[in-house]
Amino acid sequence: MKIGHLELGNMPLFLAPMEDVTYKSFRYLCKKFGADVMSTEFISADAIKREMEATKRKMTIFDFDSPIAIQIYGSDIEAMVGAAKVAAAAKPDYIDINFGCPMKKIAGKGSGAGLLRDIPKMIKMAEEIVKAVDLPVTAKTRLGWDHSDMPIVEIGERLQDVGIQMLTIHGRTRSQLYTGEADWSMIGKVKANPRMKIPIIGNGDISSPEKAKAFADLSGVDGLMIARGAIGRPWIFRDIRHYFNTGELLPPPLVPEVVESVKEQLYQSISWKPEPRGAILEMRRHFNRYFPGLLDFRSFRIALLQAVELEEVLQILDAIAIQYASERVNYTNIDLK
Ligand SMILES: Cc1cc2nc3c(=O)[nH]c(=O)nc-3n(C[C@H](O)[C@H](O)[C@H](O)COP(=O)(O)O)c2cc1C
Repeated sequence: MKIGHLELGNMPLFLAPMEDVTYKSFRYLCKKFGADVMSTEFISADAIKREMEATKRKMTIFDFDSPIAIQIYGSDIEAMVGAAKVAAAAKPDYIDINFGCPMKKIAGKGSGAGLLRDIPKMIKMAEEIVKAVDLPVTAKTRLGWDHSDMPIVEIGERLQDVGIQMLTIHGRTRSQLYTGEADWSMIGKVKANPRMKIPIIGNGDISSPEKAKAFADLSGVDGLMIARGAIGRPWIFRDIRHYFNTGELLPPPLVPEVVESVKEQLYQSISWKPEPRGAILEMRRHFNRYFPGLLDFRSFRIALLQAVELEEVLQILDAIAIQYASERVNYTNIDLK
């Protein structure tokens, strides 16, 4: 499939944009383990306008990243157009517009999924951004605002008509937040619409290679996007690709292999953060997710979450690798949270 002239191959696997997760260190690992397309976390158009230093850092693109999107969000069309131009200057491969974030502080203020309640404005915003930048522009959204209002098929057509070049759909409504199950049959309805020509990417609840295959088959989408399922499991991309190619499941990694990856992410983080403590804080939400299914792991988990010095963290990781030298992590009871 293609976004404009950008060739992304057959059934590309996208790392989803995630606030405070899809920064450099995590993107690096996902890329290493086979994610085909990257995204930054969402970036506020207002923050771009105010030229905030942290925001500029979020827009930094690294050599390993490409192809990558910078995702932006906001409620004001003019500010979004300005933000898209600034984002384009950071040289991503394309710009993605967030029309899906359900959080009150975002959607409640008319950004993200808030635009699902004002579709003419959503379409106008997309149109103005497409006109303003030379890069392809894509959009990511949900099925609709709530169960009684799921206009995603119509939204897809209208976004395509104003020049959006790819549409990613998270198969939930805004009201659902992250509850219930993603409805891949609704995503399939958009894909099956004979008027749709642009690629449709499906997103929601992919937590294993088998689910990836089942959702792809059910919906007929052109690519798959994975968010929570990749946290603590960046090799999920490799595992899915292997399953698609061979029909076989790879075994989960040995604990010492996981430890090596955690260290790699940590060092990547240190290389980009002004000081190691910031990297350790950043890693906390990941530590917890890297070691599922290990017996008597609780004391290690607590120690990892309390450690503040790099040396301490490395010692704990080494102790984990020794204690569980021949064991594999276990994903059988994984719940996406
Ligand atoms: C911690 C976290 C942060 C997120 N941040 C963003 C974001 O910045 N932009 C966005 O479009 N979606 C964001 N999402 C939504 C995900 O991209 C994705 O649509 C959703 O999690 C469903 O996919 P999954 O079931 O694979 O997790 C976020 C989700 C999580 C869990």
